Amino acid sequence: MTARDLPPTAVVRVAVNGAVRELAGDPARRLADALRDELGLTGTKIGCHAGDCGACTVLLDGEQVCSCIVGVGQCAGRAVTTVEGLAAADGALAPLQRAFVAHGAAQCGICTPGMLMSATALLRRNPQPSEREVRDALAGVLCRCTGYRKIVEAVLAAARGDVVDAPVARAGAAVGARVARLDARAKVTGAERFGADALPEARAAVLAMRVVRSPHPHARFAVGDLAALHVRWPGLVDVVTAADVPNNAFAIFPDLRDQPVLADGVVRFRGEAMLALVGDAATVEAIDVAEIPIRYLPLPATTTCADALVAAVAGAPIHARYPDNVLCRGRVVRGDVEGALAGAAHVAASSFTTRHVEHAYVEPEAGFAEIVEGRDAGGAAVRRVRVFACTQTPYLDRDEVASVLGVDPSQVHIVPSAIGGGFGGKLDLSVQPLLAVAAWKLGRAVRLVYERPESMQSTTKRHPAEMSARAACDRDGTLVAFDFAGDFNTGPYASWGPTVANRVPIHASGPYRVANVRALTRAVLTHDSVAGAFRGFGVPQATLLGELLVDELAARSGCDPLEFRHRNALAAGDTTSTGQVLAASAGLRACLDALRPAWRAANEAAKAFAATGAKRRGAGIACMWYGIGNTVIANPSSMRGALCWSASRGAHLMLYNGAQEIGQGTATIMPQMFADGVGIALACVEQVMGDTDRTDDAGKSSASRQTFVSGNAARGAGIELRRQLLARLGFGDDDDRSVTLVLERDTIVGRRGGEVHALDVRALALARGGERAGDGAHTQPVELFVGHGHFNPPTVPLDADGQGVPYATYGFAAQIAEVEVDVELGTVEVLHVHAAHDVGRAIHPTLVEGQIHGGIAQGIGMALMEEYVNGRTDNLHDYLIPTVGDVPPITVHLIEDPEPLGPWGAKGVGEPALVATAPAILNAIHAATGVRMREVPVTPSRLRAALLARGSEAT
Ligand code: FES
Ligand code: FES
Repeated sequence: MTARDLPPTAVVRVAVNGAVRELAGDPARRLADALRDELGLTGTKIGCHAGDCGACTVLLDGEQVCSCIVGVGQCAGRAVTTVEGLAAADGALAPLQRAFVAHGAAQCGICTPGMLMSATALLRRNPQPSEREVRDALAGVLCRCTGYRKIVEAVLAAARGDVVDAPVARAGAAVGARVARLDARAKVTGAERFGADALPEARAAVLAMRVVRSPHPHARFAVGDLAALHVRWPGLVDVVTAADVPNNAFAIFPDLRDQPVLADGVVRFRGEAMLALVGDAATVEAIDVAEIPIRYLPLPATTTCADALVAAVAGAPIHARYPDNVLCRGRVVRGDVEGALAGAAHVAASSFTTRHVEHAYVEPEAGFAEIVEGRDAGGAAVRRVRVFACTQTPYLDRDEVASVLGVDPSQVHIVPSAIGGGFGGKLDLSVQPLLAVAAWKLGRAVRLVYERPESMQSTTKRHPAEMSARAACDRDGTLVAFDFAGDFNTGPYASWGPTVANRVPIHASGPYRVANVRALTRAVLTHDSVAGAFRGFGVPQATLLGELLVDELAARSGCDPLEFRHRNALAAGDTTSTGQVLAASAGLRACLDALRPAWRAANEAAKAFAATGAKRRGAGIACMWYGIGNTVIANPSSMRGALCWSASRGAHLMLYNGAQEIGQGTATIMPQMFADGVGIALACVEQVMGDTDRTDDAGKSSASRQTFVSGNAARGAGIELRRQLLARLGFGDDDDRSVTLVLERDTIVGRRGGEVHALDVRALALARGGERAGDGAHTQPVELFVGHGHFNPPTVPLDADGQGVPYATYGFAAQIAEVEVDVELGTVEVLHVHAAHDVGRAIHPTLVEGQIHGGIAQGIGMALMEEYVNGRTDNLHDYLIPTVGDVPPITVHLIEDPEPLGPWGAKGVGEPALVATAPAILNAIHAATGVRMREVPVTPSRLRAALLARGSEAT
């Protein structure tokens, strides 16, 4: 019997993870949905519902399939295995799962179930695969975080049978250890709860939301009488419109609130939310938008900076507040640029164009909101809204949702879900205010899950940039001037436009000593997609141009490109373009020193490569720097840690960790730093993550700030707690590191030489918590001692010329790309990337390597394939991101030039990982072909056209 033969209400029997299950309903519905919604097997993830991402991969009779494009009826009488079926009945992980844990193969974890199932299918049919065979087997599953290298390593290790579990750190030695991620087990078993994986407790009463969005980039619209819609669709509970939003504007910066939750008569980009249908799930899905009475008056739309600037002159600003369509300007000016350019031995000039880049995290935005009762400070009942959703910034969400609702922030409770990738895209609000408004109005729980096209069309992108610059050096190759101007297309709303406009000028001249700098930027308002934060805040775009010019000047002055960079590299004691003197930790020269052997070998290999037919090889190098944390503005983080006791767990440490985990590892490195601050084994640490009712505000997971800023706070909380414990144990008030602390079941024991003191933690808890604390009924631990940590990096505001101290410290890096170019097809294959990163101190080397791998993969995408066009590439079929086949071997050199202000010397690596990759690839393309590409992505057609224009060998 085929699916077509089955009646719509058929009962399909399927063996799921070894147990026969009956699935009643439409046999044509997706297996993925049935597994998740009917069987509760949410380890199977949904990234696209279209067969493009592989997140939903399961085994059907042992063969991997995308369960989102398999009908339930197709599974009748067959065996389905999901990620929940991999571990043994006693919970013991399968070797492949253990390998993923040991190798750090899961970052955000949203792709992990799909990867595990694909690899399981491979190893069952081919127990000893080659690396090529592993890569081929994983090719159908997209990962946006890891760069795939550690996933391939893990599969090969499992195949060899030599899975070595990650080490357990001893007390005081968690920092620097390659311990297992503390959230790894949840990731490899499918137990993590992402935004779409959880429902409110009263799940039967939850309403579904579907957002209706603008098909026009700019239009006036009016919603007509909705009575007929309600009559036709009794399951439609409400249509939420702008009139239902108490304060209909939100933003990243409170003084720039300009983006409506629901457009109020005017839409300013294609995909903007206009109204939301709320009702039972079947109803809101079934309604055809053509049934909704919306009248449009399309208006002229400006989608480029140039058009927007002209339109403003013609009197058509996008917001009255910005009559010139310029949201903001950035400026750094130092020295005499024109004079230095005029007197220089060599001057190079170029322009450069970049396009929208989509974050393409595998998890589309999702969550729910519900109304709960709380208590105010006086104990009176107060209405609250609880929002469970994916976010990089729970506290900003809390404040913006409160602002939208017109309530006090204490009435909003944000509970972050696990996040299936963010990269800056989940710093802006998405589902949160929509859900909160509907729940607040209706007094009911409401759920919203974006489909892939909706996610891509409605959320922020990397700013497209139009840039031009001149750079100059003297006869011996010393940089003397840099002159940069750039327009960044920020779309119709502020989002992170001010941050990009301000960060770029500071970084535009690169990680080099340049006495004379002029860097000017504009964030220009258009009717294109909203541009926001994306791994680097504009620095990757500017670095593409800057590193092109540095390569040109190296050639003109007869210098080797690496040695030219080494000669000009910023070092401790040097002054930056903002007048900041780098006090310490500027390890760019060490990065270049580490890469020198690979650079020479790569160039010799490229020279030795006999151009066969259309193939050419070349190596390119690029450097970068990145200010860690927010630019100038306050950047604080607070953490709290406690010694607790509970009947079930006994004595343990609890870290209230507000540094949101987005795959980068804050759920592991914050406990590492806290544990070493206390001096007690990491295994004794439990944590609460992100919940705004239970953690202090650690700020956003953005700008590579958490390790440096929140790491200091976690360390500080640990040290303060240790002091209290030492004092209570009788070792005095100092943080005497010669005292060892050990937590036993109900006791803490301190030793200094032969001196031993113990504290009965259980007895203390019983005294504090009352008799019931000891009867096992208490689930909440009793807090006995609490340490607080706080850090706000020191900065100095910039003056009108951008002079000041914008960041307390900087990450530095250099990367080499080796490429092979097919000059007939215009294709580029990246053969190897060598990456040297000064991270200050690698708190967790495996996670740092993983960040670098993932950043490089995104850099390859930016260089060669990624271009988002609103309305045309709103899916993972037309919008290409690197697959496992696109990421070459990566050699990582971790340079640890300690930052005195950093916890154990650490800085940050999340954004630096990406910045140098694309310019290194473009410089390698030039080395291979002689062609300078001045736009990205370098698609085959663009490279082919450039090769033809140059009259190269290809013609
Ligand atoms: S969710 Fe099935 S392939 Fe993406
Ligand atoms: S770990 Fe693969 S998508 Fe995040």
